[in-house]
Amino acid sequence: MNLLLTNGNPMPNIAIGTWRFKRNGTYAIVYEAIKDGYRNIDCASCFRNEREVGRAINDCIRGGIVKREDLWITTKLWNNCHGEENVIPNLKHSLADLGLDYVDSYLINWPVVFRKDITMPVHRDEFLAPGEIPLSETWKGMEAAKGAGLARTIGVSNFNIARLEEILKDAYYKPEFNQIEIHPYLKQEKLVNFCQKNDIKLTSLATLGAFDRPSMIKKKDEPAVLLNPVLTEIATELNISNAQLIIAWLVNRGIAPVIKSTNPNHLRENLEAVNIRLSESHMNRIFSISEKYRYISSEYFEIPGSPYTHDYIFEE
Ligand SMILES: NC(=O)c1ccc[n+]([C@@H]2O[C@H](COP(=O)([O-])OP(=O)(O)OC[C@H]3O[C@@H](n4cnc5c(N)ncnc54)[C@H](OP(=O)(O)O)[C@@H]3O)[C@@H](O)[C@H]2O)c1
Repeated sequence: MNLLLTNGNPMPNIAIGTWRFKRNGTYAIVYEAIKDGYRNIDCASCFRNEREVGRAINDCIRGGIVKREDLWITTKLWNNCHGEENVIPNLKHSLADLGLDYVDSYLINWPVVFRKDITMPVHRDEFLAPGEIPLSETWKGMEAAKGAGLARTIGVSNFNIARLEEILKDAYYKPEFNQIEIHPYLKQEKLVNFCQKNDIKLTSLATLGAFDRPSMIKKKDEPAVLLNPVLTEIATELNISNAQLIIAWLVNRGIAPVIKSTNPNHLRENLEAVNIRLSESHMNRIFSISEKYRYISSEYFEIPGSPYTHDYIFEE
């Protein structure tokens, strides 16, 4: 059930994602998920539901369902909070909302920088160009958060190799995590290899194809990874669901999936899937799926005149 970190500490290797949980439903889903065995919860300040997540966590701790030290809580620095001096104040804000003294993991959400007063740009002037606040400067703030004990581990999300190298070149603490989109339609072999060689653990977002995401970043005729016929064939042979097969394929690659669900049956089957071992031949059949699709695109950041491009963010 655990993914071993470089320092030997274990991280439960499946997380419940909390993106787009509606505020009034979040408490019950997170509370029940912890009761049912989830120990890893993926949050972000931009999900705007950390208070509800925190209430559920703290009620579970107070009720004796779980101990704080057995939970792994991740949260993320939003794009308008880059800059060394902004990291600790923003982490403290998330900690206050979550009702926690520390998080287990704090991640820079994107290698994209907005003006401080802008939550989501609608005009090009609302971005700061790459390099105006170098990622390595923000990273110094992340290191300070780790040094202060407010984040046990620090890392990044949606970083490609070039962006990781910007941080690695003079990091005191190396990034311990990179959370990126990975599933059978986006295998990310080059980036996964780079991270694994550099002891950067991977967690996956949009693991099942994120079909609940906003329509602005959805295409009408997009493929559904969950319905892929090769996956259906293998899952039928193994008598498991397609979702379980994707989860097992990731865990067998040493990647910890993050998956959102509001459905108790799905939550249970997802948790059970981390114990499924796949043969080399099953793994290879999944690797041989040729379709390629990215569900979480950078369209939000590519408004006309924006200094950020798909290649800057995602190009391998
Ligand atoms: N770092 C970032 O920038 C970033 C970006 C996006 C996401 N994330 C993180 O990654 C998490 C997961 O990504 P996501 O929420 O976009 O999408 P996802 O986990 O790929 O997909 C969620 C969808 O899958 C369905 N689902 C879950 N388990 C299932 C199962 N066993 N069988 C069939 N359907 C199932 C859910 O429906 P039901 O509710 O009906 O189960 C939900 O609609 C997020 O919640 C968030 O924590 C991070």
